[in-house]
Amino acid sequence: MAVLQAKGVGKRFETRWVLRALDLELEAGERVALLGPSGCGKTTFLNLLGGLDRPDEGSILLDGEPLHQASPARLADLRRSRLGTVFQFFHLIPTLTAEENLELPLRMLKWPEARIRARCSELIDAVGLAHRAGAWPSELSGGEMQRVAVARALAARPAVLLADEPTGNLDRASGQAVLSLLADLTEQQGSALVLVTHSESAARICHRVLHMEDGRILNGAA
Ligand SMILES: Nc1ncnc2c1ncn2[C@@H]1O[C@H](COP(=O)(O)OP(=O)(O)O)[C@@H](O)[C@H]1O
Ligand SMILES: [Mg+2]
Repeated sequence: MAVLQAKGVGKRFETRWVLRALDLELEAGERVALLGPSGCGKTTFLNLLGGLDRPDEGSILLDGEPLHQASPARLADLRRSRLGTVFQFFHLIPTLTAEENLELPLRMLKWPEARIRARCSELIDAVGLAHRAGAWPSELSGGEMQRVAVARALAARPAVLLADEPTGNLDRASGQAVLSLLADLTEQQGSALVLVTHSESAARICHRVLHMEDGRILNGAA
């Protein structure tokens, strides 16, 4: 069964439809790139897939459960335990260290302290930042901040990781490092990935590429 499914999804702002008739089936562990020009609706679609916003038509199913009908409490729960998100501008909490940022989602899930410690030390190692664990976000480079954000998004081993132009604000080398981590870590733990990008080369870490234009997916239902 698909881990995440969009069926006939549409979204409008006031009277203007910005997404129409979008279908997506994401298998467990599958990586899909969503490629398209600025303004074509990529972020809007990702927000619907992640339950940050609700569609005006169609449905979004996470493990078969309709996200668009979930109560706010259930949505918050699913977002913490089954979904991870990475943004273009990192969104680390500036008053927490790298390590504390990583721990936060697991604390919200009320994991036992020893398990939080073990998981975070494994992850900070995996993203190559063990030596920066105690640093504040303001002391980290963009690439380092994004590696912390990737580790944080994957901490609870989500079924699906949603990444919105995660390399859009990074230089080429740091961007490449973040892409490799996204591919390797999701592969290792069996998380699926939806990677929004306008870079053809970034899309190469994915199994499948969907092209979007004007609120539609061009290469058909996929
Ligand atoms: N909150 C909003 N209110 C009104 N229009 C919006 C809103 N968010 C996005 N849009 C419009 O929806 C379209 C798609 O935007 P977006 O999903 O951000 O595109 P992309 O991420 O592909 O650049 C754009 O025309 C944008 O102006
Ligand atoms: Mg966008």
